[in-house]
This record gives sequence, C-alpha cells and structure tokens, in this order.
Amino acid sequence: MSADERAGEGGSSPKDGGSAWAPGEAGVLPRGVAARARAELERQRGRGPRPAVAPDDAGAAPASGPEGLADATRIVRAGLPSAGQGRPFLPGPVFAAPYHAAGDLDEAPHVYGRMTNPGFERYEHALGELDGGHAVVFASGMAAVAAILHHLLGPGDLLVAPTDGYPGVAQLAREHLALRGVGVRLVPTADEQIRRAAKGASLVWLETPANPGLEVLELEETIAACRRAGARVVVDNTLATPLRQRPLELGADLVVSSDSKHLAGHSDLILGHVSAADEEVAAGLRSWRTLAGAVPGPFETWLAHRSLATLEVRLARQEQVAEALVAALRERDDVSDVRYPGLSSVVGFDLGSPRRARTFLSALEIVLEATSFGGLHTTAERRDRHGDGQVPPGYIRLSAGIEDPRDVVADVLTALDRSR
Ligand SMILES: Cc1ncc(COP(=O)(O)O)c(C=O)c1O
Repeated sequence: MSADERAGEGGSSPKDGGSAWAPGEAGVLPRGVAARARAELERQRGRGPRPAVAPDDAGAAPASGPEGLADATRIVRAGLPSAGQGRPFLPGPVFAAPYHAAGDLDEAPHVYGRMTNPGFERYEHALGELDGGHAVVFASGMAAVAAILHHLLGPGDLLVAPTDGYPGVAQLAREHLALRGVGVRLVPTADEQIRRAAKGASLVWLETPANPGLEVLELEETIAACRRAGARVVVDNTLATPLRQRPLELGADLVVSSDSKHLAGHSDLILGHVSAADEEVAAGLRSWRTLAGAVPGPFETWLAHRSLATLEVRLARQEQVAEALVAALRERDDVSDVRYPGLSSVVGFDLGSPRRARTFLSALEIVLEATSFGGLHTTAERRDRHGDGQVPPGYIRLSAGIEDPRDVVADVLTALDRSR
C-alpha cells in the first residue's frame, strides 16, 4: 500500500475537512494525521524501559524521573542534571582532548575525548529516555548506521534492507558488507515482502516512513514477524522521531536516527544516534565508536541537546504547514501522487516531468531549494536529481518548516501556476 493510499484511508483527506490548517489555529494541536499519531503514542506510553536522567558533571543525584509526564514536558527536561544553586539548566559543552587524569584510570571520570565527554552522556540520557532504550551518539546518522552494521554482522550473516529507504544503507551493505561475506537481500518497504525475506536473516533493517518515497509499514506486526523468524530488527526512525513513533516499544531491538534532521532541527549540524533495547548491545556500539573514532564534536552535541527542548513545538508547527500544503495540493489537477503518511512533516508530490519540477523550484521565493528535511525552513528538491532512481523524475520531496502556513501555501501555489 502506498503512503498516499494509507493517508487517504486514514481519513486525513482535506476534502473531508479532517486535517486542513485553518487561520487562527496556531498553537493548537493539528487535527488529522498528526493528532492520530500522537494518540497512538499515548496508547504506547509506559511500555518500554526508561533509564534514569543524567547525573551532572560532579556526579550529583539525578533530577526526578520523567514517568507520567506528557511528551512536551519530558522533552524540555530530558537529560538535564538535577538543580544546583547557581548552575545552568543545561551545562555548556566541554572541549577536551585529554582530561586531567592522574594515577589509576579507573578513578578518572574522563580520560580522552574520543572515549567520553560529559555532553555526550547528557544527550544520550535524553535520547535514551525518549526512545525507551540505551542511547549512543555518533558523529552522523551514517556513522550510527555503519556502527550497527559492522558491530552486529559478520561472515555468514544475512542482512535484509530496503531498496527504497535512505540509499546509504543499501550502498554500504553492497559495497562493503557483501565483500566481507555478509549476505545482502534488498526488498521494498512492503510488509509482506519484508516478512518473507526475514526467513534466515540475522538483521532486518526497516525504515518507516521511508525516505524519500514515504512508504509506511505496519510496524508492530512486521517487527514481530521478523523476530519470530529469528532476526534482530533495526528501525530507522529519522522521519518520525521518538515523539511520533517509538520502535523499541513496538518490539524492535535497535532504533537509529539521523539527528541532523528533526532532532537537531536547525539545519546547522550533522549528528546521529542509536538506541538499543539491550544495554550490552549499546556498550558494544559505544566501544565500536571509540575504536572507529566516530565521535561527534562537543559543540554539535550541545547544540542538538539544546534544540531537543523545542522538538515538540517545532513538529506541531511543521505538521500544520504540511497539512495545509497537502490540502492545497490535493485540490489541484496539475499535481499528482500527493504523499503524506503523517508521522513526520515531509510531503511528496509528482509534477510529471523533471522540466516542470525544475521550473517550479526556481519559481519559489519562500521555500528554499535544498536537500534534507526536518529544519526550521521549508525546503524542497527534485529528489531524483541524486540519481538513485527511487522516485519518479518529477517527484518533489518537501520538508515543511515553521513559517506561517498561509505564506508557504501561497508560495507553493504561485510557483505551481508559474511552472504550468
Ligand atoms: C532516513 C535517513 N537515515 C540516515 C541518514 C544519514 O544521516 P546523516 O546524513 O546524518 O549521516 C539520512 C540522511 O539523509 C536519512 O534521511
């Protein structure tokens, strides 16, 4: 089932009046798809393990636990140390290669910056709390992906990965893992095909919603089927974020994210993380990170942690913009295949030809032409310009930002008219 069909099935079509943004609603939770995603998360709440919040640099007692709080509250406090007179809420980044570490190294909280940094630990506590697992931060989403693939797979293992997800995963598998004796089976993001392919697999890699085509899975059932087949399951949750989908609570072994997107959210840094249900797996990934040197910078980690507090607010606004755009796009007869599965603020649509797509993009004045998604600015690109053939040549992937929905819709409609 395509993302578009699923969105339609869910009753989110603007024609039924269920999800369109209306003036004066700013600050109110959007109706339709996003609201249903939130309701589903509420249903899932409390099912997964949640680690305690971070100790502060001095090892003081952690702040009180997050149980029972709403997401918007938990995310503002996630990973913060306990209150201390005259201390900041979120301590600043610590820039250190070596730390003072005299004598027995077991006594030293930090020794060398490739191993540990107090900012990594705080951000990891925040992410672990949100994902419901044990988090490890990496220098990029791809560094996190590579750590999982290299740490968990060896000769004779079989990886099942999507043909239509973020292409870096399949490329890494084909160009590096296959040469080292790991079998690679690539399948489309479709529940039945994945469940069939999982037989004999060591690791199944899922991405839902998938980037760039926005296909979506029946996640809980497909995870269960893969696990019954004896495979571990990883879910790339970059598009949905832990505020819209928590794969560990749905039975996944690992969740991976490019934090360069929604989590950091300001289009100004590259970062990634993995959260594992099993603490030992997380420890193995952390050890891989130290050896491979895939550590993030302290400043990037701090910026991402600071940005986390606004994730709920940013997502709610981005969803308003996305839903207003989807409503407007579905009214037009010169736009086809409008895809918006919810769970994120990424929208896809087809303008029929590369030529029209290019004319449309150059006619935009507010929406910026750029790759990636999840930032404050509404951006769009003709996704097939990357040449991976995953979507039609006239397909536009648009990432809704936090501008006024009326301005974004007007800009897109004007550019569509000009590109006819
Ligand atoms: C779904 C998804 N996963 C992983 C990545 C890789 O993340 P990064 O660019 O932070 O290395 C991306 C990047 O676009 C992505 O979209």
